[in-house]
Amino acid sequence: MKVSVSFLKYQNSKEETIKKIMATHADYIHVDIMDGLFVEAKNDDLDEFIHLLKDSKKPLDIHLMVASPKEYIDKLKILNPEFITIQAEILNPLVYLKQIKSYNIRAGLAINPDTDINIINNYLNYLDLVLIMSVYPGMGGQKFIPQVTKKIKMIPRDKLLVSIDGGINDETIKIVRDDVDICVSGSFVCMSEDYEKQLEKLLT
Ligand code: DX5
Ligand code: ZN
Repeated sequence: MKVSVSFLKYQNSKEETIKKIMATHADYIHVDIMDGLFVEAKNDDLDEFIHLLKDSKKPLDIHLMVASPKEYIDKLKILNPEFITIQAEILNPLVYLKQIKSYNIRAGLAINPDTDINIINNYLNYLDLVLIMSVYPGMGGQKFIPQVTKKIKMIPRDKLLVSIDGGINDETIKIVRDDVDICVSGSFVCMSEDYEKQLEKLLT
């Protein structure tokens, strides 16, 4: 299992948090972007994200919690991300999955806790990753919703990577560790004093 660290919640500055993640063995940096429409919160200053992440040594795992991803994808492709994930609940996800793939970026679909996992069957030809949301999107530091793990066995694991996002810590990871390819962890890592130690706890 790989670990993708989210810096939505942090202690001092975003810059310092990103620097500290870079110094760990994390596999990816998970970049949460919110538009104030799909979710209430808004943090979509893309120039700032590009400035902060343009020299990233770690592959980027971008999670767009936005209603209309087109311009976000167009702008963020300059960062050469490993994945761009959009939300399944927006209008016409297929258009954006095709857009992501046209840039040779791996495409992900995030599935909110109340969304039927069978929705992925409409997009299988354009999908590389399914991101199971284990909290309602919009903020870090929420409690893991265990019921969502039932969805994992409905995903064709031979075709798609499975990631889980929200409320992952050294206890909740035990529920999913054997069943996912990637786990996203935010506050468990970034609200601690020793990021590397927290990562080790997720992996052992
Ligand atoms: C939730 C975000 C998550 C979140 C993870 O809206 O998509 O990536 O930041 O943070 P924790 O691990 O604190 O739930
Ligand atoms: Zn996320």
